[in-house]
Amino acid sequence: MKHPREFFQHPRPIVRFPTRDDSAAVMELINACEISKYSALSRNILQQDLLSETSVVAELDGQIVGWMAAYKPPHDLETLFVWQLVVSEDERGVGLGSLMINSALKRDICEDVERVQTAIESDDRGTWSFFKRFAHSKNADLNVVSDYTHSLHKSKLDASECIVTVPLPVT
Ligand SMILES: CC(C)(COP(=O)(O)OP(=O)(O)OC[C@H]1O[C@@H](n2cnc3c(N)ncnc32)[C@H](O)[C@@H]1OP(=O)(O)O)[C@@H](O)C(=O)NCCC(=O)NCCS
Repeated sequence: MKHPREFFQHPRPIVRFPTRDDSAAVMELINACEISKYSALSRNILQQDLLSETSVVAELDGQIVGWMAAYKPPHDLETLFVWQLVVSEDERGVGLGSLMINSALKRDICEDVERVQTAIESDDRGTWSFFKRFAHSKNADLNVVSDYTHSLHKSKLDASECIVTVPLPVT
């Protein structure tokens, strides 16, 4: 089946495992978007090569244009938790976000993964739309649970978060 990028005659980026050498370019991508509040943690993850088996970078013409940091929680190895997902502004809307998630799911380490999970702030309309569409592509509904741990957070300034789960089709 053709990827949406081919229909739009848009060059398809290479999606691959991240390495330490990607740190600077990925940090630049993160800082250019509005998700830089976790940038110190992102930098540590990149520089120490943490989570690389379940994370993805997308590269187009030698430039990093996408980043997904994801992991399998030790208490729930059948879940792929997407912690950070970012696509450069010029490359949005043509399937790169879903391509990165799907490419991680195809790896051997994700063979037993049964669901994709993430946390979405209640007012983050773009990310809600993205995951609704991703769920639709899997013939699934979003399972949404309010993040009850939020009341424990010191900062009350953040919008509340929901834990969102997309069950994957059984293959
Ligand atoms: C969310 C994000 C990763 C999606 O990546 P993408 O490559 O554009 O996503 P895809 O092309 O695979 O999917 C596009 C779908 O997502 C939805 N979507 C994504 N961003 C949206 C936005 N800002 N507003 C409305 N819908 C949006 C749409 O449903 C769209 O489908 P459509 O164009 O057919 O309606 C990207 O928009 C991004 O980097 N945003 C800024 C960073 C961010 O907020 N990350 C998530 C929290 S960590």
